[in-house]
Amino acid sequence: MGKTMTPAQILRELEPVAEANLNRHLSLAKDWHPHDYVPWSQGRNFAAMGGTDWSPEQSGLSEVARAAVVTNLLTEDNLPSYHRLISTAFSRDGAWRTWVDRWTAEENRHGIALRDYLVVTRSVDPVALEQARMACVSQGVDNPNGTGDHTVLPGVAYVTFQELATRVSHRNTGRVCQDPVADRLLSRIAADENLHMVFYRNICGAALDLVPDAALSAIAAVIRNFRMPGAGMPDFRRNSVLIAKHGIYDLRQHLDEVVLPVLRKWNIFDRNDFGPAGEQTRDALAAHLDSLAKDVIRFEEQRDRALARDAARAARNSG
Ligand SMILES: [Fe+2]
Ligand SMILES: [Fe+2]
Repeated sequence: MGKTMTPAQILRELEPVAEANLNRHLSLAKDWHPHDYVPWSQGRNFAAMGGTDWSPEQSGLSEVARAAVVTNLLTEDNLPSYHRLISTAFSRDGAWRTWVDRWTAEENRHGIALRDYLVVTRSVDPVALEQARMACVSQGVDNPNGTGDHTVLPGVAYVTFQELATRVSHRNTGRVCQDPVADRLLSRIAADENLHMVFYRNICGAALDLVPDAALSAIAAVIRNFRMPGAGMPDFRRNSVLIAKHGIYDLRQHLDEVVLPVLRKWNIFDRNDFGPAGEQTRDALAAHLDSLAKDVIRFEEQRDRALARDAARAARNSG
């Protein structure tokens, strides 16, 4: 309840939970190899090696699929920043350290596999892709959870939502690619993101049991400030509009498939171990979720109108 602990004490108390969940993760994680998910026979040299450079008609992906897959890949490319953040939030040794390094190695595989797929299939401009990667990684990410606090509680709350959000986004991106090879790769990556989410969700659940008020306060702050990674990426505004408009990751999915299921899993609205401060935070969170639900309806109405306008324009142009 009113118990206060420093981040270092929390990390010490939660280390056995981290160790148990690390072992659980290692027993469930599948080893897979990026090269098994890339259609190498479609590859050919670019001009520097005597072949042909990329041109737009070589891409088999729609504009929406390209926007989604590039945004997902650039997010994976920003791994050095995320590694820095979680290695600062967690402890430098024991199970925390083993987890951070293992997680980093798995995330790196996602970027490798996606880039190989995109370049071999000529789905996107490889020059623009490399320039975008340089811009993203050079800029880095320093306040992904939006709270300015990157200690263990907000850190672990943020990554729980974030891993689940990337699972949803990778899964739906696979669907819009309309290529069974891309779909298989993105499903494989989404399954990894799900296991990452479970690790963080279990840690954050244990933090709620340990310091209920402080953990809830961190969770509520993260929900209030949540944004998808990618602000600052080249073309981020345009791409994020396409991603939301075409149901790859939108406000409805954010609320119904990410925020609410996790809060239910943590039993936030039925627990009785909060003190007065925690009760207050919970009331404010409930009010925030209500207003988010209203935003969802507004967003869907606007989207329906925009899609209807697009359809009318397409009909006019073809008639
Ligand atoms: Fe990933
Ligand atoms: Fe992940």
